Amino acid sequence: MPALNGKIVLLEGIHEAAEGLLEQTGLEVTRIPGSLDPNRLREIAADAAVLCIRSRTRIDRALIESAPALTTIGCFCIGTNQVDLEAAAERGVAVFNAPFSNTRSVAELTLAELVMLLRRIPQRNADMHSGRWRKSASGSHEVRGRTLGIIGYGHIGTQLSVLAEALGMRVIYHDIIAKLPIGNAHSSASLEELLSESDVVSLHVPATAGTRGMIGSQELAGMKRGSFLINNARGDIVDIDALAKALDDEHLAGAAVDVFPEEPKSGDSEFSTPLAGRDNVILTPHIGGNTLEAQAAIGGEVGEKIRRFIREGATGTAVNLPNVDLPSRRDGQHRILHFHRNVPGVLGRMHTVLAGLNVNITAEFLQSSGDLSYVILDVDPIEIDRVQEEISKIPETIRIRTII
Ligand code: NAI
Repeated sequence: MPALNGKIVLLEGIHEAAEGLLEQTGLEVTRIPGSLDPNRLREIAADAAVLCIRSRTRIDRALIESAPALTTIGCFCIGTNQVDLEAAAERGVAVFNAPFSNTRSVAELTLAELVMLLRRIPQRNADMHSGRWRKSASGSHEVRGRTLGIIGYGHIGTQLSVLAEALGMRVIYHDIIAKLPIGNAHSSASLEELLSESDVVSLHVPATAGTRGMIGSQELAGMKRGSFLINNARGDIVDIDALAKALDDEHLAGAAVDVFPEEPKSGDSEFSTPLAGRDNVILTPHIGGNTLEAQAAIGGEVGEKIRRFIREGATGTAVNLPNVDLPSRRDGQHRILHFHRNVPGVLGRMHTVLAGLNVNITAEFLQSSGDLSYVILDVDPIEIDRVQEEISKIPETIRIRTII
């Protein structure tokens, strides 16, 4: 079992799918409802080996440095910017997240929205709620045969591509890196070409300096008259005032928007957007990835990553550490996990220490990135305390852990 002190603490209502996996680490699992204020969080973190959070808990350098037993932070969400990744890496604390557990949820919502927009359902729905029976085919189209332009052909973009083709759509895409076209989709020669050919443009790029404001008045003007825009990616990718104007000018026939330049922090906050009040616009409160299936998948994905790190030392999916992944230990073998500063000679010193203790190494894998190196060694059974004590004396050691 892993020689670790401390508990696994689950905050913010993490899905129960994580719990069974975390229990397999052999550590005590404690669940705390909701998020905690910084003082209480610090108290809880003081004897935590693993902190499991979602997006509301901020883990800064001071907190990491005040938590001596902390080895792992599980972000049960997509983003990790609520955690000081550098401070975690400096102490050999692994940070895991779930980059694609909600991919399908976003793709499905987008597909549903494009069908709704092309059928003018938002308008017909508004009519019905205000007592108007407007039965008409005017402006209502099948999606079959229409062109969908996907900007950002990554996890979500490619899933959407498959689903849209299944409905008979022609799919084109634009990405900054060359991507394998899925099915019959093909890459547009340029963003401008994609915008001018698409009946529906859907954004699936990350928020970066290169995507901020990438859809402004010029790009909107370059879209087909009567086409639709869907932004389920990030709020600052689209100039929202320019989008409102393109809708008012009837250059665009409608839009669906899930993400906004400024989003309220909590459910009780007021919200306003220049897009409000238009019955050809579907507005949703950043729920593209929010389904129970996605929550369960996130629980399972991050739970499993933590389980493997605690039981086997695997950092292959960590976002902040050198990626090291050895196969499971053979029966009877012990495992040494060593994080150290990336300077020449440390591995040699480790070998000398282990040889001095008569330890036989059977497998070894080291990776370095930046200032940090991580090595996993499988060894014939050892006297743990002695080995830990001697290796800890190597001055570049950041953290040593053994699994027996
Ligand atoms: P991904 O990383 O798999 O794909 C993003 C793609 O965009 C990559 O292929 C990348 O090369 C491409 N890209 C980056 N910069 C570009 C540029 N300037 N021009 C064209 N292509 C560019 O990401 P994934 O998982 O598909 O997510 C996409 C977006 O969806 C992200 O912004 C993410 O935050 C957002 N998202 C929104 C959710 C919601 O609840 N509405 C939930 C999950 C993700």
